[in-house]
Amino acid sequence: MYITTDDGSYGRKGLVIDPLKELLAKHKDIKEVVAIGPLIMMKATADTTRSFGVKTIVSLNTIMVDGMGMCGGCRVTVAGKDQFACVDGPDFDAHQVDFNELMKRQRRFVKEEKSSLEKYHHECELKKAGKI
Ligand code: FES
Repeated sequence: MYITTDDGSYGRKGLVIDPLKELLAKHKDIKEVVAIGPLIMMKATADTTRSFGVKTIVSLNTIMVDGMGMCGGCRVTVAGKDQFACVDGPDFDAHQVDFNELMKRQRRFVKEEKSSLEKYHHECELKKAGKI
C-alpha cells in the first residue's frame, strides 16, 4: 500500500499519481488500475494511465444523489454518450469519462453552497463542550 498526503503528514508527501507513475514505469505487466475517490484524483489517474496505455476503471458513485435514476444528478458523458452513474455504472472506463464537463457541473452551485455554510454555520456541540 502506498499512502500519499498533500502535506506529507502521513505517508509520502505528494499526489497519488506520483507513486502510480513510478509503479507503471517499473511494472510493465500492470493490466488494470481502479481509481475511487474525488473527481480530480480520478481524472489525474486517468490522465496518467492513459499515457501508459493501461486500462482504468473509475467508480463514480460519489456523484450519485438519489441512486435511483430519478434525479439526474449523476449524469455523466462517457464515450460521448449520456450515462447515469446509478443506472449505467457506477464503474466506467476512465479514459472515456468527460471529467472536465463533470467537474464543471459539480462547481455549478459552489457560490450557493458557500453562502449556505456561512449562513448556517454549525459548531459541533461536543467539540464546544470539550468532549472531543
Ligand atoms: S443518482 Fe439520481 S439519477 Fe442517478
